[in-house]
Amino acid sequence: MDDLRGKYLAAIADAADESALEDLRLRAVGKKGEVSLKMRELGKMTPEERQQVGPKLNALKDEINSALAARKAVLADAALDERLRTEWLDVTLPSRTRRQGSVHPVSQVTEEVTTIFADMGFAVAEGPQVESDWYNFDALNIPAEHPTRTEMDTFYMARAEGDDRPPHVLRTHTSPVQIRAMQAQGAPIRVIAPGRVYRADYDQTHTPMFHQVEGLALDRDISMANLKWCLEEFCRAFFEVDSVELRFRASHFPFTEPSAEVDLRCSWQGGQLKVGEGDDWMEILGSGMVHPRVLRAGNIDPDEWQGFAFGIGIDRLAMLKYGIPDLRAFFDSDLRWLRHYGFAALDVPTLAGGLSR
Ligand code: DAH
Repeated sequence: MDDLRGKYLAAIADAADESALEDLRLRAVGKKGEVSLKMRELGKMTPEERQQVGPKLNALKDEINSALAARKAVLADAALDERLRTEWLDVTLPSRTRRQGSVHPVSQVTEEVTTIFADMGFAVAEGPQVESDWYNFDALNIPAEHPTRTEMDTFYMARAEGDDRPPHVLRTHTSPVQIRAMQAQGAPIRVIAPGRVYRADYDQTHTPMFHQVEGLALDRDISMANLKWCLEEFCRAFFEVDSVELRFRASHFPFTEPSAEVDLRCSWQGGQLKVGEGDDWMEILGSGMVHPRVLRAGNIDPDEWQGFAFGIGIDRLAMLKYGIPDLRAFFDSDLRWLRHYGFAALDVPTLAGGLSR
């Protein structure tokens, strides 16, 4: 009995885990365990022997059971300590800012522009990217021989052989959406039309596909003053500054009369753009009062309605606001670039919450 006792108590003390303990339990006090088998032998003993041996065996069984329980508790404590040691979390660490995907600066700026003009009562209008020659040019007072057609480096679609109609084009600007919106909605009207446009051009500030947003506001008495206010209000909100200074420079577009190109007062210091101060002027858009012929092409009577239109380069705005030097990188799909310049997907720009946090 002393041998059994010594053997099992030592083995229990050494048991490394719960399954080793269970193994020992079965071998010692399980149904066919050594101590249990000894107890069965009690039957064959004389009553005197039994009185002697019985209590000792029972005591041994109890001793082994409590040693098992004690060892089990020690192992459970150790396991918990180990978990506490490895599964800790420092709740004072800052949260991760890296997300799986990010919003492209062009999408971000489009959202910002849309938000600002929506606040001024402009709805969003759309048109096709493959556009007819008439919508892209003629309806905008750009007749067939007008030099603008070649200046714009137009991409022409192919026509079937023998088909002599003018080919469709990849729209060279968002201005044709003005015509489509006028035809569809009539006047009064206030729309903006953001979207892709195409020209055969490629350098640091030109890519064959880029983005513009067109604006159109028609009513009975809309004037150049309304245009100025809208654009100033837009620039203030977009560049998130208290005041901006715009310079309206007389210009020429076939679809507006008078026409103005608009420059923004700014300064460049150490590659950093500051809006509203400094001695530099940055051209940001074209605009003017919609030409009567353009109104007529949109089925609107120029004796009753008048208004302004403008066209802004979205990619240019993104480069300015977010300090991005090369336009070509916008469309390279380089993940490192997207991670650096991209925006978190859930930070939807609002005027109240801030456009670009
Ligand atoms: N469509 C012109 C361009 O792509 C931009 C433009 C100028 C749009 C004057 C207008 C405007 O609506 O009034 O260069």
